[in-house]
Amino acid sequence: MSREELMERTEEIFSRVYGGQSEKAVAAPGRSNIIGEHTDYNDGHVLPIAIDRFTVAAARSRSDRTVKFYSENFGDGFSIDLDEIHKDYPPWGAYVVGVVAEMEKAGYRLHGKEIAIYGNVPLGSGLSSSAAVEVCVATVVERLEGYSIPDAELVNICRRGDHNFVGVKSGPMDQFASRACRAGHAGLLDCRSLVMEHYRLPDGLIFLSIYSGIPRSLATSEYNERQESCQKAVVILSQKYPEVRALRDATVEMVKAMCDEMGDRVCRRAMHVVTEERRVQEMVAAIQAGDEARIGHILLEGHRSLSENYEVSLPILDEMVDWLYSRPGIVGARLTGAGFGGSLIGVAKEQEVDVEALKNAFLERFGARTPEDPQLWKLVTVDGAKYSE
Ligand code: GLA
Repeated sequence: MSREELMERTEEIFSRVYGGQSEKAVAAPGRSNIIGEHTDYNDGHVLPIAIDRFTVAAARSRSDRTVKFYSENFGDGFSIDLDEIHKDYPPWGAYVVGVVAEMEKAGYRLHGKEIAIYGNVPLGSGLSSSAAVEVCVATVVERLEGYSIPDAELVNICRRGDHNFVGVKSGPMDQFASRACRAGHAGLLDCRSLVMEHYRLPDGLIFLSIYSGIPRSLATSEYNERQESCQKAVVILSQKYPEVRALRDATVEMVKAMCDEMGDRVCRRAMHVVTEERRVQEMVAAIQAGDEARIGHILLEGHRSLSENYEVSLPILDEMVDWLYSRPGIVGARLTGAGFGGSLIGVAKEQEVDVEALKNAFLERFGARTPEDPQLWKLVTVDGAKYSE
């Protein structure tokens, strides 16, 4: 479904649930990430693209302080009172209650709202369906209230919602991509300054989204564990190198020099992050130069590092990546997102790849071996929610 169709459908849902019409609607896209995995919570760089899968929020203000949420995807709705936020809502509600509660905590006083939510970002597939929900709600509320919240602040509001209501200590990448990426560009986000620069994607290349058929499991506990390992590495590195405030400040040489102190596991986690940081910079140069061979090489190195050092891949995901590299027209592929299932990103030469044939061969090869049906499709890059009309 296109963005326009989703917006129309969400408007119909709004009328059915609340009666009358909404006042504003915002579409927030999902994201894929070209490179820069598990660098965002280490103050590093990431290079995501916003993709043509959206969550839409259509909303209207009320004169009181009651916020009503309805999700068509979950077929479920509930209300909260902004003056006394209870915890009696369904699990999906944590993402949206977190946003409005944290907006208020940040000093943005809100009126009540009626909000209808509907989208087609596949849930649990590593394409940031949860960030898309948060960002469309935050942006539609911002517009209804007439606020103009800087991207970095709105992203941090959504993240505090994740931390305090959902229990995941996510970095800023997903929400920032959903809010601010541009069509036809990759967004280089500096996760320390929260400034994004946009780089035009090379002509002749297309991006693929490949859902592995393995829903992300263990993601929350393992994700939080990886963050703790990174923090441990920083504590140890900063004893010798006081300038290291986050792994973003460390180099391969520093990590090597302190590997014994860190122990093998923490050392490998840190090694992934410092090498990944370098790969992001190299990828930006390769994209600017349109250097396909280099792009493919960096993606493969990135995947291997996630698999061997960060240990967030699975054998079947490694096999999918190797298989993709063996296919004609494929420039590169790697796991994207937190890992433990979810999705791969692929880059292919537009003139040389037959996406339909590739998809069929992929399904034939892996379809019977995964708990859910795998998927493979050509991505279209889109604008983030702040450009949504
Ligand atoms: C998830 C998190 C992001 C980021 C990635 C890994 O998608 O939400 O903040 O940490 O994992 O790169």
